[in-house]
Amino acid sequence: MKNFNRRSWLKASMTASAGLFSLGYAKGLAYEPEAIPGSVRQRKKDAYARLSSNENPFGPATSAKKAIKAAIDDGFLYPRHYRDELMEAISQKEGVSRDHILLGAGSTELLQAGARVFGGDKAKILSADPTYTSLVRMAQSGGADWIRVPLTKDLDHQLEVMEEKVSSDLSLLYMVNPNNPTGKILTANEIKSFCEVVADRVPVFVDEAYLDYMEDPAGSTVTDCIKKGKNVIVARTFSKVHAFAGLRVGYCVAQPEVIKMMAAEGPRNTLAGPSMAGAAASLMDDSFIQYSVKKNNEGKAYIYDVLDKLGYDYFPSHTNFILFPIQMDGDTFKEKMMEKRVSIKTWNVAGQNYCRVSMGLADDLQMFADAFKAVVSTTMNRG
Ligand SMILES: Cc1ncc(COP(=O)(O)O)c(C=O)c1O
Repeated sequence: MKNFNRRSWLKASMTASAGLFSLGYAKGLAYEPEAIPGSVRQRKKDAYARLSSNENPFGPATSAKKAIKAAIDDGFLYPRHYRDELMEAISQKEGVSRDHILLGAGSTELLQAGARVFGGDKAKILSADPTYTSLVRMAQSGGADWIRVPLTKDLDHQLEVMEEKVSSDLSLLYMVNPNNPTGKILTANEIKSFCEVVADRVPVFVDEAYLDYMEDPAGSTVTDCIKKGKNVIVARTFSKVHAFAGLRVGYCVAQPEVIKMMAAEGPRNTLAGPSMAGAAASLMDDSFIQYSVKKNNEGKAYIYDVLDKLGYDYFPSHTNFILFPIQMDGDTFKEKMMEKRVSIKTWNVAGQNYCRVSMGLADDLQMFADAFKAVVSTTMNRG
């Protein structure tokens, strides 16, 4: 009863804060979410708005949770059946045979395998800077060199410069599209033509963690290049639009020889049955994916409005986070926001400081807006 009351209260308080931007759960959507928040998301007095890790608080999907719960009964079995089911679902979705697919515990495990296969002593890995650096950092710890091509002033890729830097001793070219931390994209044409030319000279690893937030995910992925026989490796994660960051599921699509090399370097049967069962269900749950994207877009519209009203620029985002310039040292800004119980990340790119804020529930975003207004009104000398 106590638990019931608390959940009802939470539900009521969510509804009260819905004026921020319409929660609109059912309107025009086939997907009907369960009450949010639940479990660790339940607000305590000392809770903070966690807007620093690009998680997705609008899931996992109800269909995924049902599949996960059902699979727990099979927890005593090695999860071959769930692995087969997920491999089949991915193979259908991507239109490639199963020998082109490798599962990993999140895409981090696959980035790690990529770093081991293509890294190593004296290896050279080329990427834009800034970007998501997990693969290059792991390769560096194995002795590889990181060759960085800075983004332009507007934080776009310099594709021509990247192409010029492809030398015979380059081991791997790593790209993130949409990019993290910028939230910007290379269009389908740009990235596909780039990969088609460059992948004849060096393996190209494209991290598509945020692909599902793009307008046309199916048309924007570079898996087409793999189907044409190019040496391209695509990494995907369930951590973002599927809201599986804690359940740890990701996959790679690549040429079968590359999949074999990567599998030999780590991820072999590392995923739990319930996570794979949930991922297979989520992958087929189009109504949840649409809901997840819609909630994310509502969050972005709210933050854009807050920034517009305060006269701040931002980069329109194709992901579940927004990057915008700030006029304060990044560490100081982060501390001031944390004092107000809001966690964000900051970057310094070519002398300019930026804040990256992840999307969240309405009350998290309101906490961000209130904290930001307070921090900038008392301490920022805006340009
Ligand atoms: C571009 C990119 N790739 C990979 C990851 C790792 O995600 P995971 O290991 O949860 O799949 C992240 C996490 O934020 C990311 O931003």
